[in-house]
Amino acid sequence: MRKKIVAGNWKLNKTFSEGILLAKEVGELSKNEINSDVQLVLCTPYIHLQQVSDIVSDFKNLSVGAQNCSNKASGAFTGEVSVDMLKSIHVEYVILGHSERREYFLETNNMLKEKTDLVLSRSMTPIFCCGETLSQREANIHFSFVTQQLTESLFHLDADTIKKVVIAYEPIWAIGTGVTASTAQAQEMHLLIRNHLATKYGQDVANSISILYGGSAKPSNAKELFACPDVDGGLIGGASLVARDFVDIAKSF
Ligand code: 13P
Repeated sequence: MRKKIVAGNWKLNKTFSEGILLAKEVGELSKNEINSDVQLVLCTPYIHLQQVSDIVSDFKNLSVGAQNCSNKASGAFTGEVSVDMLKSIHVEYVILGHSERREYFLETNNMLKEKTDLVLSRSMTPIFCCGETLSQREANIHFSFVTQQLTESLFHLDADTIKKVVIAYEPIWAIGTGVTASTAQAQEMHLLIRNHLATKYGQDVANSISILYGGSAKPSNAKELFACPDVDGGLIGGASLVARDFVDIAKSF
């Protein structure tokens, strides 16, 4: 059975004290309200990670994730944070290739391949993001664009290793816009991603990989999105900044 995951991507939000409060609130709510088969992940800014890592250890459904890591293992790379640093404070997940990092920080498929390898080599779980722009969708190249992102960054992995990756489909036109992909659009792309994985690795491997949806997911639309057969959870931006909303989304399976 695939893991059900709801991950919150806090992005560039929350001071240290605000973030700690949010993590504790999510923990307390999750304790009584979240089914044991749903994993919540708090993907915080770097400075919150160590403290949030301590907080989540008190809650069985809760994990901590980073939003990025360096594609270098160590050395003279000012301002970077390495996988060893993340591992040393018990970070479990790392978001890789978010569209904002691809767009504003010029991350390439090849760079993301390097990051994926580093994260996996330290036994952490990459949440690998893919997704098209509106103009790519309108030009009907969204399927080929997303499959290329996956192929170039992940398809060097062997079958046992790719099973350890979580994929997040985030159509760029739905991120932070209030426009959510319809259930038909989400299911169509998730199935395409799973079929693409199956072509390379076989159906059993493809069936074992969790594929999350991201883009204006909120309590009011999470239920219908999570009901899609190939949607295994969500990567949540804005709504993850409010504990009640985030936990309500996680209750939507
Ligand atoms: P929103 O939920 O704010 O649209 O953001 C989605 C996202 O980018 C999560 O990584």
